[in-house]
Amino acid sequence: MTDNVVALPSEEQFQARIDAEEKIEPKDWMPEKYRQTLIRQISQHAHSEVIGEQPEGNWISRAPTLERKAILLAKVQDEAGHGLYLYSAAETLGITREELIDRLHKGTSKYASIFNYPSITWADIGAIGWLVDSAAIVNQVSLQNTSYGPYARAMVRICKEESFHQRQGYHIMMTLMEGSDEQKAMAQDSVNRWWWPALMMFGPHDGESAHSAQNMKWKIKRRANDDLRQQFVDQAVQQAHAIGLEVPDPDLKWNEERGHYDFGAIDWAEFERVVSGNGPCNRQRLAHHVKAHEEGAWVREAMAAYDAKRRARKANVA
Ligand code: 3HC
Repeated sequence: MTDNVVALPSEEQFQARIDAEEKIEPKDWMPEKYRQTLIRQISQHAHSEVIGEQPEGNWISRAPTLERKAILLAKVQDEAGHGLYLYSAAETLGITREELIDRLHKGTSKYASIFNYPSITWADIGAIGWLVDSAAIVNQVSLQNTSYGPYARAMVRICKEESFHQRQGYHIMMTLMEGSDEQKAMAQDSVNRWWWPALMMFGPHDGESAHSAQNMKWKIKRRANDDLRQQFVDQAVQQAHAIGLEVPDPDLKWNEERGHYDFGAIDWAEFERVVSGNGPCNRQRLAHHVKAHEEGAWVREAMAAYDAKRRARKANVA
C-alpha cells in the first residue's frame, strides 16, 4: 500500500500563476517570503492610513468654514476606513490585528515618512490633500493590479476615495490662490514644506530599493519607485502652475527629449532620518497612537464580550 501524499505546489508553479496574472487568494499556497513581504507592505500601508489621520485631524476643529470642517471630517473618517480594509487584508495572511499594532508601537513596522511632518497652517491641509493624496493615488492605482487578491480589491475602493481627497486638497489650494496676498503666501509656504517629503513617499531610487526586484517579479509591486515618482512630478508641476504656485526646485526643467520634467536631487539623509524615527513628529505621532490605543481598550473588550455572548446565544439556538 502506498501513502497518499499530496505534493505541495512548487515555487515555479506559483510563479507561473503570477506570470499568468492570476490573483493569489488567502487559502492558496504561497512561498513564506511572499506572505511575509505582503504582511510588511500591507501593514505599513495600513499604519500610514491611520497615522495619517493625525496631521489632518489637527485641523478639524479649526477649519475655516462649516463646509470645510464637514469635508475634512469625512476625509479623515475615510482614512480610518482605509486602515480597516488594509488591516483586514493583512489578517487574511495569518497575522492578528494585535500583532500588527504591536509591531507599529515597537517601531518594527514602518509607516509612510510623510506623516512625520507637522501641519502648521490651514494651507497644509490643502497641500496634504493635493500632494500627499496625489502621490498615494499614483502608487495605489498601480496596486489595484497587485497579485494578492484581497490587497488588490481593497485598493479599488481606496483609490476612488483618494480621488475625492485629492480634489478637496487642490480646491483648498485653488481657493487660497484666489485670495489675499497673505493667503497666497501661506499656500506657497506649505508647498515649499511638503514638496520634497511628497517625493520621498515613493521610496528610494530603484537601484537602492531593497525589495523592488523581487516584488516586481511577484507582481506585488507593479511599477518601480522612480517611474511612479516621475509621473507624480509631471502631474503635480502642471497642477501647481495652473493656479500660480511655484515648485521649490531650482533644477526643475521640462525635458523635451524625455517628455518629462527633470528635477533636483532628493535629500536622502533627511529621508533616512525620518524613516529611522527622528523626523520632526515621529515621537509625537507614535505616542498619540499608543495613548489612543490604550484608551480604546474598553471598546475592544466590550466588542469581544458582545461577540462571545452572540456566539453563545447562536450555539444554544442551534
Ligand atoms: N516611508 C517610510 N518607509 C519607506 C518609504 C516611505 N516613504 N519608502 C520606502 N520605505 C521603506 C520600505 O518600507 C523598506 O523598509 P523595510 O525593509 O524596513 O520594510 C525600505 O524603505 C526600502 O524601500 P523599498 O523601496 O525597497 O520598499 P518597498 O518595495 O516596500 O517600496 C513603497 C516602498 C513604495 C512605499 C511600497 O511599500 C508601497 O508601495 N507600499 C504601499 C503603499 C503605501 O504604503 N502607501 C503609503 C502612502 S500614504 C497613504 O496611502 C495614506 C493616504 O491617506 C494618503
